[in-house]
Amino acid sequence: MPSLPLPSKFEELVPVDVPDAQWWRQAVVYQVYPRSFYDLDGNGLGDIRGITEKVPYLKELGIDAVWLSPFYPSELADGGYDVADYRDVAPELGTLADFDEMTAALHEAGIRVVVDIVPNHTSDQHVWFKEAVNSPKGSPARNRYIFRDSRIDEDGNEQIPSDWISMFGGPQWDQLADGQWYLHTFAPEQPDLNWDNPEVREEFEDVLAFWSDRGVDGFRIDVAHSLVKDQAVIFGPDPLPTWAEMEKLPWDGTHPVWDRDEVHDVYRGWRKVFDRYDPPRVAVAEAWVEDPERRAKYASIEGLGQTFNFDLLRADFHAPQFKEIIDYNLELAARADSSTTWVLSNHDVVRHATRYGLPDLLEGEESVVGQKWLLDGGLLADVDVEQGNRRADATTMLLLALPGATYLYQGEELGLHEVGDIADADRQDPTFFRSPGVDIGRDGCRVPLPWVADAQGYGFGSETPHFPQPTWFADHAVDVEDKDPHSTLNLYRQALSLRKRLLTEERLTWEETGSEDVLQFVRPNGWRVIMNFSKDAVDLPDGDLLLSSRPLEDGRLPGETTAWLLDA
Ligand code: NOJ
Repeated sequence: MPSLPLPSKFEELVPVDVPDAQWWRQAVVYQVYPRSFYDLDGNGLGDIRGITEKVPYLKELGIDAVWLSPFYPSELADGGYDVADYRDVAPELGTLADFDEMTAALHEAGIRVVVDIVPNHTSDQHVWFKEAVNSPKGSPARNRYIFRDSRIDEDGNEQIPSDWISMFGGPQWDQLADGQWYLHTFAPEQPDLNWDNPEVREEFEDVLAFWSDRGVDGFRIDVAHSLVKDQAVIFGPDPLPTWAEMEKLPWDGTHPVWDRDEVHDVYRGWRKVFDRYDPPRVAVAEAWVEDPERRAKYASIEGLGQTFNFDLLRADFHAPQFKEIIDYNLELAARADSSTTWVLSNHDVVRHATRYGLPDLLEGEESVVGQKWLLDGGLLADVDVEQGNRRADATTMLLLALPGATYLYQGEELGLHEVGDIADADRQDPTFFRSPGVDIGRDGCRVPLPWVADAQGYGFGSETPHFPQPTWFADHAVDVEDKDPHSTLNLYRQALSLRKRLLTEERLTWEETGSEDVLQFVRPNGWRVIMNFSKDAVDLPDGDLLLSSRPLEDGRLPGETTAWLLDA
């Protein structure tokens, strides 16, 4: 939006003092999916020097930190979440020296660096797994992973150890030439580590120190609620529980593979590593755990310190649901003396501008995060692009005004939608191949960013980016949005710039609005936020208008719009 004149009261605001060690509590963290961000060397893949090149862009955007999805050597069986070497950069993405240069440039620009750690599994190309494959049954090399012999059925025949299904479809066990099977919660190229082996624990503490020594400020922990498995079950006698039995078991700390209590011993060890640094390194858990008490454990200050909250990402565009989720997560974070994290998009889900453009679901239907709309052609046929954009911009402004940290996913600041029509031959996600072809997977949010409208690959840097980009990307290119005062990019820039000065204590007070479709709250410094979920315009509360996600209509707040005001 074109900037509004700022009231003198705004200029007088003093942002809350944030001690260095607390930087993460209300930070805006921008997720970079490195292979699709910016390709400086023109090989079709985004790279580390490409991130360095775009530091001025990130600085102007106004974020506090970047989180880099895996950039490690990898065979890309799962977009880099199959790590072959935790202490290096994939050669096609750069070198450790490039990484150091990038970190220095980001720090110089006042931006912190968070990297992804993938501790549940390695790649099958990791030196440990190769060693395990070439070592005998029962060897120390195999004991770093989860190996089992075949189950012998009633007829004396050898069978797969259990009918467990991997997260990407297909069996969770794969067999080596000597007959032993290894467990992989995800793709076969991602063998699960044995976290009861002290060597595994030492290795990861060392990896954390390796990146901390290089100046990395924090870590995003992949599937943090997995890792430790029940020894008595996983290495115990046959038969293993069936998949149906496993699915019925409660997640109360005793489930054989998910959210076990012992996983927190691992994180207590990691905290000791984090606390060796000044400021202490930070971590955020990717833990899809529903139970509030159990989720709070991942945010404990003796452990990782913060955990992702994906509740708004899964919510419908519905004010009462939003309010309930906000209150619940603020309370949950406070219980762990942590702050919460707001997320609408990441590399695993359909972009939120698209989700918000889908027809409203009927009660009882699957959540919009599910991809059924993509599958039945709904994405291409039924997305109301304008509605998606409006709702996305309004919701972003709400998120940025809430107490806690906000995570943004690259491209959302350009209002990018999901790319729904990637040809089968161009797909990369293992979900697509293992379903097979039924679940189209997550590629549609991982398409390389458009930087320049009328350049090859939309200025991504190469003639043939590793995913083809649709022609409508031209309308979202950075150079186009940069010039348009009404663009999503300029809305993000303005909101983030105002937010720096508006940052205040981590509290909010709800105000009665007289409509269940309108939410309004005020932060301790008079930062007043109103979000209109309805289609009709509503009156604005008193106060000086700072920013709105769409221009006012006759002085009123239009439908599906959020405004920030400052109390007089
Ligand atoms: C969660 C990551 O976000 C996702 O992309 C990945 O496929 C799985 N963990 C397995 O590492």
